Amino acid sequence: MAKLKILHYGHPLLREKAFELKGVGRRERELIQAMAETMYAARGIGLAATQVGVLERLFLVDVDQEDDDPATRRLQVFINPEIVWESEEDAPFEEGCLSIPGVNGEVFRPQRIKVVARDENFEPFELEADELLARVIQHENDHLNGILFVDRLALLHRSKVAGQLSKIKEATLEEIAALKGVEYPLEV
Ligand code: NI
Repeated sequence: MAKLKILHYGHPLLREKAFELKGVGRRERELIQAMAETMYAARGIGLAATQVGVLERLFLVDVDQEDDDPATRRLQVFINPEIVWESEEDAPFEEGCLSIPGVNGEVFRPQRIKVVARDENFEPFELEADELLARVIQHENDHLNGILFVDRLALLHRSKVAGQLSKIKEATLEEIAALKGVEYPLEV
């Protein structure tokens, strides 16, 4: 299956709340496969379905992969995830996002979490995570609710990246307009 297009900041779908999945069939397996290929090709450690324009509560995480070496990959699939517990203490971490290329910023999040979800076979599981894994799960879970890491930046940080964000948004809106043939109609 071909790689999927990752939507960029400014795309309205990134702000939507995703819907629960009722099960895993052929379509969902193909989506997971395509998302995994897309995530690894982009060298990401997490990817939410929302980011490829599919409003379903599904994301992938792999914090183990090293140096683009397939042998070190360990893909974790989260379907209909729910963070059921989070630690009191918050920790800062420099985050980025495949949907916001070139932008990084420090985000405070709970250091440890407990999440319940379903795996690629729609089997329920519970996981207690800390450090990077906890970080990525919270970041991806945010995507399913239309929240981006830049929303969680301190005001000062946010104003520092405001210029970059509006450039990405402008490019995204131009691209959408071009697809619709609104702004740049084809000459015949
Ligand atoms: Ni992201």
